[in-house]
Amino acid sequence: MFIDTHCHLEDENFSDDRAEVIEHAKTSRVERIINFGSTFQSSIAVTELAKNFSELYAGVGIHPEEIDDFDEKTCTRLAELAAEKKVVAIGEIGLDYHWEKDSARRLIQQKIFIEQLDLARQLNLPVCIHDRDAHGDTLKILQTEGKNLRGVLHCYSGSLETAREVWKLGWFIGVDGPLTFKNSAKLPEVVKAAPRDMILIETDAPYLAPVPYRGKRNEPAYVVEVAKKLSELRGETLEEVAAYTTANAKELYKIF
Ligand code: NI
Repeated sequence: MFIDTHCHLEDENFSDDRAEVIEHAKTSRVERIINFGSTFQSSIAVTELAKNFSELYAGVGIHPEEIDDFDEKTCTRLAELAAEKKVVAIGEIGLDYHWEKDSARRLIQQKIFIEQLDLARQLNLPVCIHDRDAHGDTLKILQTEGKNLRGVLHCYSGSLETAREVWKLGWFIGVDGPLTFKNSAKLPEVVKAAPRDMILIETDAPYLAPVPYRGKRNEPAYVVEVAKKLSELRGETLEEVAAYTTANAKELYKIF
């Protein structure tokens, strides 16, 4: 079986056919799916979905592009959501310097990121991190503020050098559709060097559909295309990739 360790099935792109998409995932052997919130509202939505579908789990958190959604009560409210047993992570949280060029707002992103890392530590939950064009600061924050925490750099887009530092901390990298793109740059080198016990597979659906679905709406079933590309690059069978990525996801997120 496969696990899609990061997607957004609460997204309105799935409002007409969510149950069919989950069914299609199951018939493609994608038997567990973890949805992540970006705002408080979407964190509620993914938690509700996890209660309603046995295959679904949830992560709750405020995304760096959504920091205006964060106030002094947010961490308490996220903790209340996280009391639901199918909430298995804090995320997605982190830094996005691609869309945010203003240095004062980048500092606010950092502060909110660190507060949510503290929340994850209090709740003893793993963390799913969004890092876009902010590899240096993300790594620095993990090294200084990440004590006793584990998690994943989701949709990994950094260098091999940074990945090695991430693995040293015991954190995973999450690999998505861009691995299958012709212009996937550094990512093939990173996945070839990755230890087996440091890789997760994910779709980030509805975004970033892998080849041959590139440009279409992504969905959890397509995580198999990411696994196929991993097996090709790493010289492993698809069954091996399925076995270790599933074991990694179960171990990190304590799902069965
Ligand atoms: Ni995402």
